[in-house]
Amino acid sequence: MSDFLWGAATAAYQIEGAVDEDGRGESIWDRFCATPGKVRAGETGSIACDFYHRYPEDIALMRELGIDAFRFSVAWPRVIPEGRGAVNDAGLDFYDRLVDELLAAGIQPFPTLYHWDLPQRLEDEGGWTARSTAEAFVPYAEAVVGRLGDRVTHWTTHNEPWVVAWLGYGWGEHAPGRTSEQDAVDAAHHVLLSHGWAADVIRRDVPDARVGIVLNLEHVDPATGSEADAAAAREVDGRANRWFLDPIFRGAYPEDVDLKPPVRDGDLAAVGARIDFLGINNYFRFVVREGPEIVEVPGGTRTDMGWEVHPESLYKLLRRVADEYAPPSIYITENGAAYADVRSHDGGVHDLERIDFLATHTDAVMRARDDGVPVDGYFVWSFLDNFEWAQGYAKRFGIVYVDYPTLERVPKDSFHWYRQRIESLQRV
Ligand code: FCB
Repeated sequence: MSDFLWGAATAAYQIEGAVDEDGRGESIWDRFCATPGKVRAGETGSIACDFYHRYPEDIALMRELGIDAFRFSVAWPRVIPEGRGAVNDAGLDFYDRLVDELLAAGIQPFPTLYHWDLPQRLEDEGGWTARSTAEAFVPYAEAVVGRLGDRVTHWTTHNEPWVVAWLGYGWGEHAPGRTSEQDAVDAAHHVLLSHGWAADVIRRDVPDARVGIVLNLEHVDPATGSEADAAAAREVDGRANRWFLDPIFRGAYPEDVDLKPPVRDGDLAAVGARIDFLGINNYFRFVVREGPEIVEVPGGTRTDMGWEVHPESLYKLLRRVADEYAPPSIYITENGAAYADVRSHDGGVHDLERIDFLATHTDAVMRARDDGVPVDGYFVWSFLDNFEWAQGYAKRFGIVYVDYPTLERVPKDSFHWYRQRIESLQRV
């Protein structure tokens, strides 16, 4: 079991704060948060958990937790404030210090190059709907890899292209807030394309690099045994899962999904080039009936996001991805749950529901591993309570509670549970 990585995950905009420091440029999330009505209660990531300043203290906590790896993302607008052109060394210095501090604590850095904070300047020029944004991603990747590649082996290009495309460009729920299906389709293709191009550059500059991409994937169940529901489930699966898995592992978009991506010659070869690992983020399953319509199963337990707790679906998802796409290695790069945590009178946070969630989900992952699925790590989302995008600070996913007025960190009971879980499995 010692080669299995236990980790915790975060993302730049959700934890760093310090949005105006050391030459950072504006991102689409700064702009989105400043737009009335977009984020709950008008909240923003401008302070967030202040990780930008408090990372040494947080890494000390990670060490206490005993994790092997820490997943974080690099903010493009810190590194190249205008999206393309001049590199801001002060921005890279932050990630340089972070990586050194992690390594000194014996924790493997597991960075993601893009977790949704596009430089606003690039959005002004078309954002991910423009092919030029995919082109700009390459020198950005080169700059980060050039600075950290001597110490970082595992590189993730993108986090959840489906969310970037559909929530950001299709449904307007995330930055940049556009609402056009064709924009979403174009954005998804350019994100995938930039993944392929960046993967090439990372391999060229870091010969022993392991390169991957993170997809949000969901197991899909038809609501009943009817043929109409089965067809509806297949349709949802096509758009949510196969639209991304197929080009990455088979170099082709699924033929049964009626969308028109802006593919040019050579694109699919770039997107479909070999990856070393697939990152899977998973939080729920879909239950689908004719329409297609997503239905809520009565009686299920739900988290504070309203997402059904269903660990068996994570097991099935892993089996399916391994059987149909055969990735050489899989990491669960995010899994976790929001609950309405409160600090109790004894000062602690007794998040028993989260412990149950994490226990049943890590069991599901281990069962898949025992059955031969090449899962090589599990990252809990999240290390800290943080800025949950359009939901602001209302949803707490951390195993460490953050008291936002003081920024004090309080390890929840789930933190202590996770520490023991890691310890006992490391001894196996
Ligand atoms: C995922 C995101 C992550 C976090 C969790 C709850 O979609 O990657 O940043 O918000 O959901």
